[in-house]
Parts: sequence; C-alpha cells; structure tokens
Amino acid sequence: MAQTNSTSALAQADKTASDCMPRPPVSEIIARRISRRQALGGIAAAGLLSLTTARPAFGQARSSLNFTEIAHGYDTNFHVPKEHQPQILIRWGDPLFPDAPAFDPLRQTATAQSRQFGYNNDFVAFLPLPHPAGRADHGLLCVNHEFTNADLMFPEIANDAGEPVLSAEQVDTEMAAHGHSIIEIRQRGGKWETVLDSPFNRRITTLETEMHLTGPAAGHARLKTAADPEGRKVIGTLNNCAGGVTPWGTVLIAEENFHAYFAGDPDRTAEAENHKQYGMRNKPRFQWGRYHDRFDLEKTPNEPNRFGWIVEIDPYNPRHIPQKHTALGRFKHEGATTAITPDGRVAVYSGDDERFEYLYRFLSDGRFDPENRSQNMRLLQSGTLSVARFDADGTLQWLPLVWGEGPLTPENGFASQADILIETRRAADLLGATPMDRPEDVETNPVSGTVFVMLTNNTKRKAGDIHAANPRAHNRHGHILELIPPGGTGARADHGAATYQWEILLKAGDPANIEDDAAYHADISPHGWLSNPDNCAFDHRGRLWIATDGAPRSGFADGLWACDVDGPGRALTRHFLRTPRGAELCGPCFTPDDRTLFVAVQHPGAEPGSDFRTPSTRWPDFTDDMPPRPAIVAVTAGGRPIGNPHMG
Ligand code: FEO
Ligand code: CA
Ligand code: CA
Repeated sequence: MAQTNSTSALAQADKTASDCMPRPPVSEIIARRISRRQALGGIAAAGLLSLTTARPAFGQARSSLNFTEIAHGYDTNFHVPKEHQPQILIRWGDPLFPDAPAFDPLRQTATAQSRQFGYNNDFVAFLPLPHPAGRADHGLLCVNHEFTNADLMFPEIANDAGEPVLSAEQVDTEMAAHGHSIIEIRQRGGKWETVLDSPFNRRITTLETEMHLTGPAAGHARLKTAADPEGRKVIGTLNNCAGGVTPWGTVLIAEENFHAYFAGDPDRTAEAENHKQYGMRNKPRFQWGRYHDRFDLEKTPNEPNRFGWIVEIDPYNPRHIPQKHTALGRFKHEGATTAITPDGRVAVYSGDDERFEYLYRFLSDGRFDPENRSQNMRLLQSGTLSVARFDADGTLQWLPLVWGEGPLTPENGFASQADILIETRRAADLLGATPMDRPEDVETNPVSGTVFVMLTNNTKRKAGDIHAANPRAHNRHGHILELIPPGGTGARADHGAATYQWEILLKAGDPANIEDDAAYHADISPHGWLSNPDNCAFDHRGRLWIATDGAPRSGFADGLWACDVDGPGRALTRHFLRTPRGAELCGPCFTPDDRTLFVAVQHPGAEPGSDFRTPSTRWPDFTDDMPPRPAIVAVTAGGRPIGNPHMG
C-alpha cells in the first residue's frame, strides 16, 4: 500500500514512538542518517557500498522490530511469527454481494465470477470509512486481480496436457476474474469480517467495466478502434499488479504485462515496432484473442495502445468510471506511489518491470487542495513525465519526456506529446535513461521522505553492463535503492526536484555465499536474507516491509521480511512471514494504526506438476473438493503493533 507524505508525517512518527518501546526522537534519527551518509559517502559514491563490511560506527546494532523471526522453509501452509495471528479474510470465488452465488469450482461461469472475489490478488489498499477521517477498524479493502492460472483454476485444464484450448465460457471467466475488487470490511472482537450488503462493494473486470481515457493521448488516432471511434472509452483493465493510494483517497492500479493477452503478428500492423517494443510476438499467454477480436491485434491493431496505463478508481463512489491517465505514460507499470511536493504538486513514481527498463516520475501541473476533492481527481490529467538517470557519483537526474525537446521530435517519429506517451519506452531510450534490473514496487518512507525502489533481478545483465545503481552481473537476487530528494525529511522532501541523491539499501542474496556478493546489515540472521524483492510497504514508523517473488529458486518460500531503514538497524532484514508452496507474496498493507497487516497470497500451488486435480497445496481450505485459492490474510498481534508484539 502506498504511503503518502503529509504534514503530519513527523508528528505521526513521534506520536507512535510512545506505543510500546523506547524509540529515539525523529531529530536523533535524522542526525544518525546524516552521520551515516558522511561516513559512507565515499563508498556509496563509488557504487560499492557493502553494508556487511561497512558496519555503522554508532554502537551496537539493534533492530526496532522485536517479533520472533521465523525460519526459511517450504511447505503447504502459511506461517507468521508466534506472537501473531493470521486470519483468512477473503478467497478467490467468495461472494462480494448478498445475491452472489456461492463458489462452485466445478461449475464456474463468467456471470458468477463477476459477482465474486477475483483471482491472483496482488495490490491491497485499506481506505478507512468514512472518508476522510475514518477508523482503523472499518474501511474499504481494494484489491487487484493481476492474472489467472488456468491449470489451477479449471478442473479440465491439466498442466501436463500440452496447450489445451479453453472454452469461450472459460475465457470469459478468466476475464471476469481479472481486474479489481472493492469490499467493505470491519473488525469486531479482534476478527475482521466482510460486509456483503455494503453499497461500496464492487467488481471491476476486463470483461465489462467501462473506463475513460484522460490526458494528452485521449482521443488520439492511435487509440481509436471500431468499437470506440472517439478513442476515449476502453472496456476493462488487465494485469493489474501493484498500485497506490492518492492523498485524496482514490486508488491507482497499474496495468503491467498487457502484451501477454494479445494474439496476432505485429508485423502485419502499422504499429509493428511499437507492439514489438512492448513484447508482443504472436505468442500470447492467454487465449482471449480466440473469442474476442479486440485481443487479436491483427483485427484490432490499436487495442494494445489502450492498455499499459495507470488507472484511477474512486472506491468511495461505486458508480465512478475508472480513469486511464495517459499523462503518466504507457509501459509495464508495476505500481504507482504518490507524494506531495512542498509546493503542493503531486509526484507519482512508477517502475517499468522488465529487464533493462526504467524508473519514472510524473509531476502534476496542478496543486493538491485538501478542500477540493473533485479538482484533485483531475490532477493526474496533466503534468510532466520524467525518467531516471542514475549517475555513478550518487546523483539521480530526472529527464523530462517533453515533445519538441532534445530528440523527442517529428524527425524521430514523435508528432506530438501523445506519441511520446504511447511509446514511452522508445522516448526514454532516446533520452539516455538508466536501464534497471526490473523496477518493481516503489514506496516513500513516511518518516524520512526518501523513496525506495525494489529491483527484483536481472540475470541477463552482463559484466560489461554493470553500473553503480545496478552493480551485479547476472543479478539473481535483486537489490533495493533509496532515492533521497533534497529539501529535508518527511513533508519537506522535494519530490519535484530535478536532481536527487541515491544509495543502495541492500543487495539481496545469501550473505554467507561469497558468489552472491550480497550486502545487508552485519547482524543478519541465517533466515534474514531474502531474494527477489517485489512488492513493499512502510509501516507508519518508517520500517520497510519487503515481499518477495522468486525465493523458491533459492530453496525457500516467498514471504515477507522487515527492516529499519534508519538508525542502528538499517538493512537488518528479519523474516516475518512465508507463503504456501508455489505462491508469491503481494500486498502488503497496514491499517493506519499498524495493528493489522493485510497480505495477498498469489497463485498458491503454482509449480511444476501441480494443477487443479493434484495441487501441491490446497491452502487455504485444505479440503479435497477445493483447489488452492489466492486469498487475503489479515495478520494481527493481539491488538499490539505488527512486528512489535513485545512491550518494553
Ligand atoms: Fe506483477 Fe512486476 O510483478
Ligand atoms: Ca509485482
Ligand atoms: Ca513479480
């Protein structure tokens, strides 16, 4: 879940410091950061920061997190530290409305799925009710449904049967299982429950939800189709991975791997180079083009241009028409994290999750007004999109993608700003942005105001390609960068500046294996190391919670690790949670009081030899008549803060 800066961020940190344990005041944390930077500046500048050897000089290292760390492992179940309690909140197929049919995995229909919780939950946001001054025990849970696994979803689709053809009803059921769910939830007697008769509950699907395009590319010829001759209305959103929450209480959801849904040969279209730059090769993972002409790019060549955007949804208005904001660019958006600049503009950070792709920042033209929500909901329609260049001296330059400037001209095929936004990757290539090791989630620390970027891996990076900000060849395990805007901490951080500083927080992998060249705090436990950081969240004390996607390649389950990012416990990651086999962990999201952590267990049982009839786990139901089901888990700690269940 995105954290947004606010003028109360520092006050919030001081307030929560009294919760359960002694914690230094924010001023002291800042002083430590400065002294650490001074001590490590030369190393960081060389891009060779190694925290396992560069131990902080300010005394005994100690994490602010005092949960009992769990062990690496790989089994059929879900595990949290012993002081914490997991509760299955909602599963794929669970009804979202009083009249929704009960889940019947042997008789699925698109109609039923459109009224039930979707598949492969990814991004999770909790928006308190009522808006804006709501409670921590009552709110709207907003969840992305990124994709579907047909062989775990349908009894007829065995995973050893080659490439079985799905029926039209199965394809439509997949399309109805994609998108987004909004459901009211509340906590009673320490337990969370869903409110089925809530007027806020909503399913947004690829099958039938109408959306509007906004910004410079809306209405452009390259976005027009026979079904939408104005180029302003799209049916559905897809592959919604991570996302964010805006300061005005809307949700941003990212369209990531849209290429995987389009059949057809790009070379038979006028958009060949564009489609190929986004990975379309006439080898779609999904079979939607068999039954829906809009997912066959030879029949509807502009339809792919209508995906790959950031979509804004107002969960407090169930009739809101979702908005695809073209001003934020078109690429494989992993997520979208907002921050407010000191002068009130809105910054949105978003990574393009592919090897050697880029990190972006959108900056609104208009200013956030806490008193004018309808105006705020237009802020993402116009602004400047920039792409990051990481320099070896530890500076970061934001390079604006503006038509007519530098190489972004008609001579290079950009007739307008719309062309730059439709072909954002090609424009960023021309500006000399820094190719990254798959930028996944980005989050802003609500205490320090610095920005953290998950780089999940890049095994294609060769020794000749290494760079200070992507310092390992054959990067199996990924790393995490910290971006430091100028101006100060918390709400004073200037997310509109053209130049930042950057550092490496950690390099993932096994610190005991010299070949991994990993870098963490020196006091990390044998279970504290992680691999393939993906989604992430900050709690309100400014601790980073890192979810992984790919740890099984290192012999243990994906899950969650947490660490301080300031003070003596910086980069001392500790293992908090692990998923059932075959799953990756998504979410994570804290309630405003940090007393509940929502996590999304995505694709449990997705591994070789595992399918609907013989799955490798039947989590979370563990009954013979149920396949594994992606689900949201609410983790609590007996009313104490997550990660700090011990007083004193
Ligand atoms: Fe959907 Fe980049 O993970
Ligand atoms: Ca992800
Ligand atoms: Ca991922």
